[in-house]
Amino acid sequence: MVSRVIPVDSFDLVVFGGTGDLARRKILPGLYRRFLAGQMTAESRIIGAARADLTEEAYRAMVGEAIDEFVPKDRRDAAVIAEFLARIGYVSIDAKGSAGWDVLRDKMRPNVVRAFYFSVAPALFGDIAERLHSNQIADAWSRIVVEKPFGRDLASAKALNAVLASHFNEGQIYRIDHYLGKETVQNLMAVRFANILFEPLWKSEYIDHVQITVAETVDVSGRGAYYDKSGAMRDMVQNHMMQLLCLIAMEPPYHFDPDAVRDEKLKVIRALEPVKPEDIVRGQYLGAKGEAGYVQHSENPASRTESYIALKVNIANWRWKGTPFYLRTGKKMRARASEIAITFKEPPHSIFDDAKGWKENVLVIRLQPNEGMELMMMIKEPGPGGMRLMQVPLDMAFADALGVEAEDVPDAYERLIMDVIRGNQTLFMRGDEVEAAWAWTDPIIQGWEARGERPQSYDAGSSGPEDALMLMHRDGRRWREIKE
Ligand code: BG6
Repeated sequence: MVSRVIPVDSFDLVVFGGTGDLARRKILPGLYRRFLAGQMTAESRIIGAARADLTEEAYRAMVGEAIDEFVPKDRRDAAVIAEFLARIGYVSIDAKGSAGWDVLRDKMRPNVVRAFYFSVAPALFGDIAERLHSNQIADAWSRIVVEKPFGRDLASAKALNAVLASHFNEGQIYRIDHYLGKETVQNLMAVRFANILFEPLWKSEYIDHVQITVAETVDVSGRGAYYDKSGAMRDMVQNHMMQLLCLIAMEPPYHFDPDAVRDEKLKVIRALEPVKPEDIVRGQYLGAKGEAGYVQHSENPASRTESYIALKVNIANWRWKGTPFYLRTGKKMRARASEIAITFKEPPHSIFDDAKGWKENVLVIRLQPNEGMELMMMIKEPGPGGMRLMQVPLDMAFADALGVEAEDVPDAYERLIMDVIRGNQTLFMRGDEVEAAWAWTDPIIQGWEARGERPQSYDAGSSGPEDALMLMHRDGRRWREIKE
C-alpha cells in the first residue's frame, strides 16, 4: 500500500542549533525524506543557524553527510539529495548578540510559512525569541518549535512558558514530544475512537489494570551529564509516558481538533493522584561482564539518579477509580520493547469447569518494535476430550496488515515538522498541559529526595530491580515479560 502524500504549503524553516546532534540525526534527514516523498515543495527552504562560522557550502556538505549517516541506503538518491541540498542555506548567528540577524532577515521570503526550530538549550529560548521580533523576522503567523526538556520542574517550566508567551501566542508555539508523532501512538486514538468495540468496556468496571512499558537497551553513555540531572522520571515519565497514559485514559474529545484533544488530556493529568512512596521503585543499572555501569556512564560515582522507574498511578475520576496504571521504563534492559497492555476483568461467572486454563483478555498495543496489536482471547482447546480452554492471540502486525515497509513509515520528527507547517497543533503539548504534568511530578521527586532514597541496583540486560516485581505481586498481578 502506498501512503497518500499531501504536499504542505511552501515554507522557510530556520533551524537554530542547525549544526547540533538533533538537527543532524533527526531534523535534517527527516526533512530530506519528506522532500523525497514529495511532501516538501520545491519552493521551500531550510536555513541552518548556529554559532559556527561556516560557509553555506560547508553547511550543505555537513547536511549531506548527515543524510548519508542517518538515511538508509536504499532511500538515498543522489539526484534528489542534490536538489534537496540546493534548498539549504546557513547563517552564522549569535543568539545573545547582534551578529547574523540582519543576514537571516534578508534570507526570509514573503508569502511562505515561517517556522523557527529552537533546537538549542532552553536558556537561549528567550534571547532568540526576542531577537526574532526586534529584527522583524517573526510575525504573527510565524511558528516556533521547542524541544524537551521543557523545564526540570514546575517553576522552570512556568518561566519558559512565560518567556515564550512574551513573544508568541500559544497558537504559534509547538512543544514537541516526539512520542506523539509515532505512528502507533496516534493509532491509540484511532483504535479507541474509530471502533465501537472497546469504548463501552473502557472503564474500571471492565478493566482490571493497565501496564505501560517503555524498555530500552541503550545506556546513557555520551549524555551522562544531561541524564544524571534528569533521570527516568524527568526524561521519560513526565512527558512520553504521561502522554501515553493520557491517550489511554482520556474521555472522547468532541472532535479530532487540537484544543479538544488537549483539553481532554489535561483533565487526565489533573486527575492523577499523588503517588505514595511504596508505589515507586527506582533503579540504577550495574555494568555487566566488566562493562561500565550507570555511575561510570554518568561520571558521578555518588549518583542517586534513576535509570529505571516503576510507578503505580491512580486516576481519581469516575471512569478509572479502582483501575491502577502501572508504568515502567528503564535503560539497559533485557530488550527494546514498548507496549501498552490493557488487562480486562474476568467474566462475572464461568459456565466452564476448566478453571485451570482461564486467563483474562488482554489488549496489547505494541509501540515498538514490530508495531501492532494483539488481543488475547479464550477459545476451546481443539480436539476431543471435553471443554478445555486455552488462550490465543488475535495478532496484527501493522507492517504485514498494511504492506508497508518499516523504512517508509515517517519518523516521528518528520510527521511533527510537517504538522508545524500545516499549522496543526493536535500532536503538540500545550503550555498548561506541561505545567500540569510537572505539578504532578514535582512532589514525587521531592519526596524521594527528602527521604534520601537511593535507587536499587539492577543488572544490565535484566527486567529491572526485584522490588518492581513486588509492586505488582503485592496486588496479585504481574508484569508482562519484556521481550522483542
Ligand atoms: C528521549 C529521551 O526523549 O526519548 C531518551 O531523552 C530516550 O532518553 C528516547 O532514549 C526514547 O525515544 P524512542 O523514540 O527511541 O523510544
